Amino acid sequence: MAETGKNNSLTLKVENLKKYFPVHRGFFQRVAAQVKAVDGVDFEIETGKSLGLVGESGCGKSTVGRLILKLLEPDAGKIVYKGRDISALSPKEMLPLRQEIQIVFQDPYGSLNPRMTIGQSIDEGLRCIGLKKTLRKPRRDELLEMVGIWPGSADRYPHEFSGGQRQRVGIARSLSVNPSLIICDEPISALDVSIQAQIINLLNDLQDQLGLSYLFISHDLNVVSYLSDRVAVMYLGHIMEYADTESLFEKPLHPYTLALLSSVPKIEAMGTSAAYTSLSGDVPSPLDPPPGCKFQGRCPQVEEKCRRKEIQFSHLEGDHWVRCWKVSP
Ligand SMILES: Nc1ncnc2c1ncn2[C@@H]1O[C@H](COP(=O)(O)OP(=O)(O)OP(=O)(O)O)[C@@H](O)[C@H]1O
Ligand SMILES: [Mg+2]
Repeated sequence: MAETGKNNSLTLKVENLKKYFPVHRGFFQRVAAQVKAVDGVDFEIETGKSLGLVGESGCGKSTVGRLILKLLEPDAGKIVYKGRDISALSPKEMLPLRQEIQIVFQDPYGSLNPRMTIGQSIDEGLRCIGLKKTLRKPRRDELLEMVGIWPGSADRYPHEFSGGQRQRVGIARSLSVNPSLIICDEPISALDVSIQAQIINLLNDLQDQLGLSYLFISHDLNVVSYLSDRVAVMYLGHIMEYADTESLFEKPLHPYTLALLSSVPKIEAMGTSAAYTSLSGDVPSPLDPPPGCKFQGRCPQVEEKCRRKEIQFSHLEGDHWVRCWKVSP
């Protein structure tokens, strides 16, 4: 990722990002251990493109999202937004950028105040960007139409909508401040399958219309394949494989990616003779990650070297990266 020459078109570049949560114990609340939630993560998002961040529960996906939003301070590494290093910015310095980087949650109640009508919630965003009162209502109606909600329902409350409609309103609320980058944290996980497809289509259409960049977080590789130009597969705080979506599905290399793919029945990776194996066991605790490769405890191809050696993230052909010495050159 470091060798890209397309920096002008980059919305986001994350380098060696780390976040360790201290665990305090005892009377003096000494730091007894650290949860290595994000342990040296690198990726890029080109303007108008989507990166899918995929992995099992607890692997650090949402923490990456919160670090980019600066809801958490990174312990190490860089977050470069549109060419500017924002990792060390104070909350005050971040204020003008708050509107540019938005989040869509799994549960839209996270971004919608249940005591406000959906119109008021969107209005609040429009006020934030200084839109004059007379222009707010037409813009609010336009935003609601863009996400497929009838503008006449602006005076209804979030609980009066179905889950899918509420997610549409949550998206309209995020769009009200004219963001460039949206972090979608499992935005469809709580919805019925038929509604999931509609929200994916909506996000795709909005991206085409508005040139938005997405970090699309999901535990489901199938979902990620519909929305992402690139995919980063995450495990226990590390990116294990990073590639454009086509390469990742046609030629998955890391044993963890292969195991994740084998747990998604709809996707058949083509053109590879790699052995697909099912994923058994749970993700180990990030409090006590194993030495060597983080996936060694569950990897069907594990060898002695994997247990001893810290595995580097290596570049293969094109834009394909992998953290496994068995498939690295
Ligand atoms: N504020 C915190 N304090 C301590 N530990 C935390 C904190 N936030 C997250 N963690 C831990 O960091 C690890 C990664 O959490 P995170 O929420 O980023 O995972 P995730 O991949 O988003 O999981 P899920 O798919 O379940 O949402 C977990 O072990 C979690 O318990
Ligand atoms: Mg999460």
